[in-house]
Amino acid sequence: MEAPDWWRDAVVYQIYPVSFKDTTGNGKGDLNGITSKLPYLKDLGVEVVWLSPVYASPMVDMGYDISNYREIHPDFGTMEDWERMTKEAHRIGLKVVMDLVVNHTSDQHEWFQDAKDGGSKKDWYIWRGKNKEGKEPNNWGAIFGGSCWEWNDKLKEYYLHVFDVSQPDLNWENPAVRDAVWDVMRFWLDKGCDGFRMDVINCISKTPGFPDAPVADPQSMYQYGLIHRFNGPKVADYLLEMHDKVLQYYPNAFTVGEAPGVKSAEQALPLVQNGVPLQMLFHFEHMYIDHQPGKTCFNYKPWKLTELKDVLGKFMEFNEANGGWDSLYLENHDQPRIISRWANDGKYRDASAKMLAIFHATGRGTLFIYQGQEIGMANPAAWTFDELRDLEEIQYYKAIEASNGDTKDALKQIQRIGRDNSRTPMQWSADTNAGFTSGTPWIKVNQDYEEWNVEAEQASSDISVLKFWKSLLTIRKDHNGLVRGAFQMIDYENQSVYAYTRRNATEQYLVVCSFSEEEVKWVCPVNRGNLLLGNYPSQEIEEDDTLTLRPYEGRLYYLPAMQHL
Ligand code: NOJ
Repeated sequence: MEAPDWWRDAVVYQIYPVSFKDTTGNGKGDLNGITSKLPYLKDLGVEVVWLSPVYASPMVDMGYDISNYREIHPDFGTMEDWERMTKEAHRIGLKVVMDLVVNHTSDQHEWFQDAKDGGSKKDWYIWRGKNKEGKEPNNWGAIFGGSCWEWNDKLKEYYLHVFDVSQPDLNWENPAVRDAVWDVMRFWLDKGCDGFRMDVINCISKTPGFPDAPVADPQSMYQYGLIHRFNGPKVADYLLEMHDKVLQYYPNAFTVGEAPGVKSAEQALPLVQNGVPLQMLFHFEHMYIDHQPGKTCFNYKPWKLTELKDVLGKFMEFNEANGGWDSLYLENHDQPRIISRWANDGKYRDASAKMLAIFHATGRGTLFIYQGQEIGMANPAAWTFDELRDLEEIQYYKAIEASNGDTKDALKQIQRIGRDNSRTPMQWSADTNAGFTSGTPWIKVNQDYEEWNVEAEQASSDISVLKFWKSLLTIRKDHNGLVRGAFQMIDYENQSVYAYTRRNATEQYLVVCSFSEEEVKWVCPVNRGNLLLGNYPSQEIEEDDTLTLRPYEGRLYYLPAMQHL
């Protein structure tokens, strides 16, 4: 029998379907492609696959703009393909989690088509008249550029869209909207889906009265009003209602809520305490350490390792003490590749990928691996404007261009942090287009695919990044102290080494990860026992308490016995 909290131990693999595996030759991945790769995922050691949206959509925001929640987009296949995929996944012991995007719909959804003409569904969306000056109701900017408000000339009112103009926000105040969402959830759960990743779920309640936001730097136009669009007073109520109306009847269902703007584990706790109403959140705090505060991701700021410890370490320590739970992610379809971002994707690429794998997989929480992370995929070396596909990047570039800014620098920032970096096709082999498609890929394939691909890493006589991940997942499965055990940071002040212990009643481990490109000496404060896994082929090169850590070295040790730090 499955433990009621099986989800804590789960390893989840995020699939970005359009870039995973194409079986039709149209240059876009599809459901049959996913089905064909389920044995690969099983063999890797994952238990759950989460699919980014595959529903009917005009694809302005790559499917995060849904026009019908009960239909599959023809590019991905048919409902029968989804059923076949899910049946096969279940047969081999994998679960299938779908993306639930219900803060907003596409403007092509029949609900909005009715609303915009003043039909019975008008109140399913959020409308306001002009302010006293005859302008938009407030100064909030949309995340993908421009104002959050779009004028409808027929109704003589504006509708609210926190994201793109084609993504109108649903009015969660309206009970009919909530009931419609519960129905969508039941539809998929009854079809055999095993749970949901919930898109921007803390955005479903906004600050009452929709006050103006303090206007910051003009460079940060996207940020106006960010604080008012998330974490409104009713988020917890709505999610508790979701639990009462739907989730409690599907006790094994998996739930993770995306929650940008949830800044601390204390703030997250009411949404995840002991798994109710949600099991865990994706907060963004570790993803923000390299942004200038109050600005967009394109505004870089150098960061220190203690800033990362301040976020991740403190979340884990707090959650352990208070019945919260973490999601562990370093990449997804909105973030660049982590080895390019936090480590070195050149000379030390192999070491970086493996060190970050140790760091990632030994945290306290449910583990999420993003497609390609397991083979050490990196950001492409450069992007031209014509190669860009993501609307956020395109809008950013155009805004810089319109203000006569430095467009070369804009492309550099996009290469560093833009969303297309992680959306390039999965690299299956050294064949044309990395074995992803026999057609023309919808987005360029990373130029490094001949060396970095699944087939090569499976065949390699060395311990490839893929083989390393597999051993790590086996270790995690066999050593539950690494999943659920207490987490304690060591040597917090250190700006090169991230070290911590994991312990339960019977097992103790020490993790030491160097984020430095130089060799680092580190005095180990505990009797460290035997090395369980390390990312350099030769074992330790020191004998006493001072460890010599090579560039991006990561080590996982057994601790021989309970020791006080
Ligand atoms: C978060 C999703 O992950 C992202 O891809 C999308 O653009 C926004 N939410 C809007 O749905």
